[in-house]
Amino acid sequence: MKRLIGPFKEIITLSEAVHKGPLTEDALGLIEQGGVLIEDEVIVEVGEFENLKKQADIIDRIKEDQVLLPGLIDSHTHICFGGSRAGDYAQRVAGKTYQEILKNGGGIHDSVNKTRAASQEELTDLVKARAKRHLLEGVTTIEVKSGYGLSVQEEIKMLQAIKSANQKIPADLITTCLAAHVCPKEFDSHEDYLNHVVEHLFPELKKQELTNRIDIFTEDGAFDTKLSAKYLAQAKEAGFEITVHADQFTSGGTRVAVEAGALSADHLEATSDEDVRILAGSETVATVLPGASMGLGMHYSPARKLLDAGCCLAIATDWNPGSAPMGDLLVQTALLGAAEKLSITECVAGITYRAAKALNLSDRGRIKAGQLADLIAFPVGDHREIFYQQGKIKPNKVWKKGVSVVG
Ligand code: NIG
Ligand code: FE
Repeated sequence: MKRLIGPFKEIITLSEAVHKGPLTEDALGLIEQGGVLIEDEVIVEVGEFENLKKQADIIDRIKEDQVLLPGLIDSHTHICFGGSRAGDYAQRVAGKTYQEILKNGGGIHDSVNKTRAASQEELTDLVKARAKRHLLEGVTTIEVKSGYGLSVQEEIKMLQAIKSANQKIPADLITTCLAAHVCPKEFDSHEDYLNHVVEHLFPELKKQELTNRIDIFTEDGAFDTKLSAKYLAQAKEAGFEITVHADQFTSGGTRVAVEAGALSADHLEATSDEDVRILAGSETVATVLPGASMGLGMHYSPARKLLDAGCCLAIATDWNPGSAPMGDLLVQTALLGAAEKLSITECVAGITYRAAKALNLSDRGRIKAGQLADLIAFPVGDHREIFYQQGKIKPNKVWKKGVSVVG
């Protein structure tokens, strides 16, 4: 049964847009008065609405002016957590830094206490509610990290909570194990803790099919570059895909990520010109997290520089209780775009097919035959309105795998 949706005033297809480097308007692959033909979960054909009508068994007619985009992809979040860190916020605006709070046993450690205190069912409900909010705002694929458990049992609890939330909502949740977030208080040595994770948690992740992705926070106060490189090599050896929290406050993580063959290096606020060059020469996606800059009152990562050097630039929310509590992908992308002078195409690419590359997913992120029918429609007649209005206009229709889930 073939279903045609349309006509849309504009469809942003991104059908031939490249993965690396700057993008101009023509890479949007814009179709006017377009339609999308869907069969089951997948897009069969995209083109002018009138030309597709004869192939359709059913037509979902769009009556108002709307612009269609691929479903958005948030490739970096920490939305599985208990409690709040409003207290950290109050301390930061009173002058304490994020790292000072962490060193004094607060920050991430505070979320660890609160997440450990929550049951698996409570965490499932929290993830479900946050993912639902994202879906309403057009985010159809969401990466979600563990990392507030920091023991074999508590990390498994978090990943199981994310997995069961995934079964309860239409958005796809992609799990990542961030047991290497910081060293838990129960361990004196960072090295002993990582060895413990490799020996006892990695096999369980495989056995219980909890995730195929491993992340580490490479930073002063978290894990140094030497331990990070060893851990990532062990993760690769065990068959996991890898990603790194790199260069948030100090540089070094990007090199570790590229040398380890990570899918992405995320944060990059402190990335040097030399690191930018190294990233551009690799297949590692440069993922910037404007929400963390906003949350901590820091400068943005050098998105323009990364693109001009030839990097694949993804943009994600980092939605978490500490540095990035807002979790609004469109608003954050629009504000980053205005500050860093990103073209509309570069903004859209960063939260669609380029974000998909960071997750090693090639079946989504474009409106093209063979891609999943993850689609979002905005109530505007001109695509430029979406970022011009700074992300405040949200989609009024969302389809996940061809099924209407919003609107
Ligand atoms: O990506 N920097 C490390 N991890 C998270 C923050 C986690 C937290 O503060 O709870 C981040 O910003
Ligand atoms: Fe993060």
